[in-house]
Amino acid sequence: MCPLGIAVFLCMAWLSYPSNGQLAWTPIYVDGKSQIDLWTKEAKGCPCPWDASNRQCACCVADGGCHCGKDAPNRCTQCGLEQHCNHMCNLTLSAADLQTKSGKHFGQIKSPSLQGPSMCWYTFLPSQNQRVEIQVYRLVNTGKFNGTSCVGGHLQLMSGTEPLYSHHENQLCGTNERYSPPVVFFSDNGVATLLFEITEETSRSQFLAYFSFSDVNATDGVGFQPRGGMPLQNTDCDWLYQDSCEKQGQCVLASPGYPGIYPPNRQCRYHIRTGSSERTHVKITFTSLLLPPERCNTSDYVAIYKAVAIPENLLGTLCGNQRKMFEFAGSNLLIEFRTGTQHPPFEYNGFVATLDFYKKTTTPLPTTLPTVVHRVSTNLITHEVTTAAPNFTGCDILISGNNTRSGQFDTREYDWYPICRITFRGRPSDVVHISFFNLRLRSPSCRTVVEVFDGALEIRKNMLERLCSPQVKQSRDPDDLHSKRLLSSRNEMVIFFQRPNAPLGTNEAEFLAGRYFFHDEQISGTVLPAGMCDVIYKGSTSPSAGMIDNPSTQHLYWNMEGPLLCTQKFVPAANQSITLKVISLEQMVKEPACVTQCGDHGCRCVSSSPISKIDHVLIVNDDTWKVACLCGSYQHEWLPVSVRSWASLTLVYSVAHYTWKKKGFDISASYTFNMDTVCGEQVYTLHTGEIVLNNLTPTENLNHFYEQSCTWTLHSNVERQLELDISSSQNRPCAAWNVSIHEYSASSSYKHLGEVLHTFCSRDAHKVYLLPWKVSTVIVRLRTLSRTLPQFKVKWRSHVVRANTRFGGAPTPAPNADSTSSAGTLAASLIIIMMLLCFR
Ligand SMILES: *[C@@H]1O[C@H](CO)[C@@H](O)[C@H](O)[C@H]1NC(C)=O
Ligand SMILES: *[C@@H]1O[C@H](CO)[C@@H](O)[C@H](O)[C@H]1NC(C)=O
Ligand SMILES: *[C@@H]1O[C@H](CO)[C@@H](O)[C@H](O)[C@H]1NC(C)=O
Ligand SMILES: *[C@@H]1O[C@H](CO)[C@@H](O)[C@H](O)[C@H]1NC(C)=O
Ligand SMILES: *[C@@H]1O[C@H](CO)[C@@H](O)[C@H](O)[C@H]1NC(C)=O
Ligand SMILES: *[C@@H]1O[C@H](CO)[C@@H](O)[C@H](O)[C@H]1NC(C)=O
Ligand SMILES: *[C@@H]1O[C@H](CO)[C@@H](O)[C@H](O)[C@H]1NC(C)=O
Ligand SMILES: *[C@@H]1O[C@H](CO)[C@@H](O)[C@H](O)[C@H]1NC(C)=O
Repeated sequence: MCPLGIAVFLCMAWLSYPSNGQLAWTPIYVDGKSQIDLWTKEAKGCPCPWDASNRQCACCVADGGCHCGKDAPNRCTQCGLEQHCNHMCNLTLSAADLQTKSGKHFGQIKSPSLQGPSMCWYTFLPSQNQRVEIQVYRLVNTGKFNGTSCVGGHLQLMSGTEPLYSHHENQLCGTNERYSPPVVFFSDNGVATLLFEITEETSRSQFLAYFSFSDVNATDGVGFQPRGGMPLQNTDCDWLYQDSCEKQGQCVLASPGYPGIYPPNRQCRYHIRTGSSERTHVKITFTSLLLPPERCNTSDYVAIYKAVAIPENLLGTLCGNQRKMFEFAGSNLLIEFRTGTQHPPFEYNGFVATLDFYKKTTTPLPTTLPTVVHRVSTNLITHEVTTAAPNFTGCDILISGNNTRSGQFDTREYDWYPICRITFRGRPSDVVHISFFNLRLRSPSCRTVVEVFDGALEIRKNMLERLCSPQVKQSRDPDDLHSKRLLSSRNEMVIFFQRPNAPLGTNEAEFLAGRYFFHDEQISGTVLPAGMCDVIYKGSTSPSAGMIDNPSTQHLYWNMEGPLLCTQKFVPAANQSITLKVISLEQMVKEPACVTQCGDHGCRCVSSSPISKIDHVLIVNDDTWKVACLCGSYQHEWLPVSVRSWASLTLVYSVAHYTWKKKGFDISASYTFNMDTVCGEQVYTLHTGEIVLNNLTPTENLNHFYEQSCTWTLHSNVERQLELDISSSQNRPCAAWNVSIHEYSASSSYKHLGEVLHTFCSRDAHKVYLLPWKVSTVIVRLRTLSRTLPQFKVKWRSHVVRANTRFGGAPTPAPNADSTSSAGTLAASLIIIMMLLCFR
């Protein structure tokens, strides 16, 4: 099994407006529900390029996909890369070439599974005015991070064609890393090379990334940010900005690689020179700043100096996610951006700042600068102001799920207005989650109001929440966090914030802050409203296979501390079964002690402490029967554990004590909806027949369990006596599997199962059951929980006696009046035909 065999990747989107200080990247999606990868629509069903009469070949994406040829008949790749289908290693990706052959400026790299020590290089040749963008999603057996650097292997993007390891560039490493959002790098020095190098012995080292040649001038957030300045020759990353830069539109400074993650161990200097006039001032507005807050005083920060970088000249520093504006009266300034060793998580992308030069005409500014202005200037916000309601007076903020998939909002970032509206608008298949973690509503007696609406209409029936002043809530307030989390039922949510009192000062302002994220139900399952992390996947609408998201890394739990329980339910459609496979579990807390024991009857958690105090994963069936429970630190020998079920299965992810810092434990799991008719809920109206289970291909892992609760309804609307003949050549415990014969019960809530008439176990070998006269409808039920698929045969026969047959009334009720009435009519006509045949 290939560790990168992931059918569908979540792809978030890019950020069109950089002020939110978040990573942005070019959106590259796997389209459609069942598509296998970027270029393969389906593994089978299309004519082979070398033999059009053979339709067993892969179907390629019409726009840019090409068939891999005879060596890989079930795969497609990007046109132009056909010769690398089976070994995507050591190749040059030319933007011009790919554009000509596939019409695309982006693509995918899935490395071969390497045995270390080994290496692969990928050289990117951008065209003019293009940046090289890499999005890394997955890394397997690629070195380890020792706290400061990678040892044993790494993935690194460098400029040039002959890259050498550099500690001035980010490297990624890890034994089993999944990045969502991806780790995004940009390279702006022309030709760049991605080096995948394993220096220790490994069995299967692999990575998966998307790449894009993005426009330098791109306006959707992935363009090159510095503008108007001049890079200084023979320096690492130094720039010169003169006031003449305004003639080129705008003067913009940015950290290297923005909006991707910034490189480690750098010291970049931005020299700012204004004209000689003493009346020239400069305003620096940091529109985005995202640096690890715990490194403020040590390594990762922005410092602003007068003239030269000496401590006496320090005017101010910025770090974390402070966004500020500074004004200076002076002609010679220096902004220094320093970074320390790289460190995960790879979510920090540095800064963007704009410069405005102007002449001071009135009162001189105080010379003890900097002046910190508490709000970002309004014109930065106008990008987000919607035109949907032209007559709306107040601040009207639109957060689009097209661009930003998750983040924070804070009304303090916007100019004060008595009324503010924040609209979250996602893609059509999105729902919106929000939570408030910081708010201050000071006015007495509900004069300040926060109202949250499900959808764009501010009507009472859509109101999800209403908060009245006075109330104060602070980050990490343990009280009642759950009640302040809200979920929309559609792709839109609106917060209406009315605060009649103008602020007395910055510290007095009433505000509202929180987090949001957009959840694409088509890709990641339908969110159930009850919990914030309960998701349902339906076999009829979900992709047929995929990886299960690690629920604990969602941004919404940023603020949460305590137990976290998330469920993901999988409901197969008719003639489908579902397979869940837990591939790995990492960083489960080992206290209190708990041991996983697997047997023929599933896996269980054995511990003297209550299960709620233990990190664990459960797979639960329809009947809330626990098929598998995994806990403790010694599960590796048991994994993978998989369950195939013909009814629904639920994966329960349970962290005993969650904190954002620890993020619970890591789970890697996959699901597949299989097409199979082994155990359909079928209704048989024929008077004789046979039920057998088809063979299934055996699975590769030891702990693969079959979980079945299959029913077959034998129905007749004429009176009869049924004879069932059940046989099996297996000799297994009754608990492993058994076949029971039930009366039909219209009132029974579970599959109309009535009283049990008989139970057959495999040790019975062969039995014939003659049912009482007039029990014309029965349900045969198979129940299995075992590593082995049951083997049996049920034959049935009806004794229909002419004298007792009444066609007029229906003495036995039909099992399901809506769906089987036509079957019933059909059955009746079949019986007439049968009887006519008998009468001859
Ligand atoms: C890729 O090329 C390098 C030399 O450029 C070579 O050492 C390495 O073995 C090649 N990798 C594979 C997997 O063939
Ligand atoms: C990590 O590895 C680097 C390079 O091998 C080494 O210089 C450094 O001291 C190591 N750090 C720790 C904390 O072990
Ligand atoms: C990008 O913008 C610059 C300055 O506005 C312009 O000179 C250049 O032609 C643009 N390039 C592209 C590819 O649009
Ligand atoms: C940084 O230093 C300042 C002053 O020395 C201190 O108040 C602050 O708490 C420090 N921050 C961190 C994250 O260590
Ligand atoms: C909104 O403004 C436009 C023009 O300014 C006006 O024609 C229209 O009637 C206004 N609508 C409302 C609802 O006030
Ligand atoms: C999102 O993108 C779609 C399609 O490009 C567009 O129709 C829609 O208006 C966009 N929504 C927002 C809120 O920008
Ligand atoms: C399920 O499979 C059975 C037998 O192959 C078939 O008769 C039935 O129509 C199928 N049902 C659905 C909903 O596809
Ligand atoms: C029948 O099998 C199921 C599932 O394996 C088991 O739970 C149940 O106890 C069995 N019934 C009997 C009577 O043994």
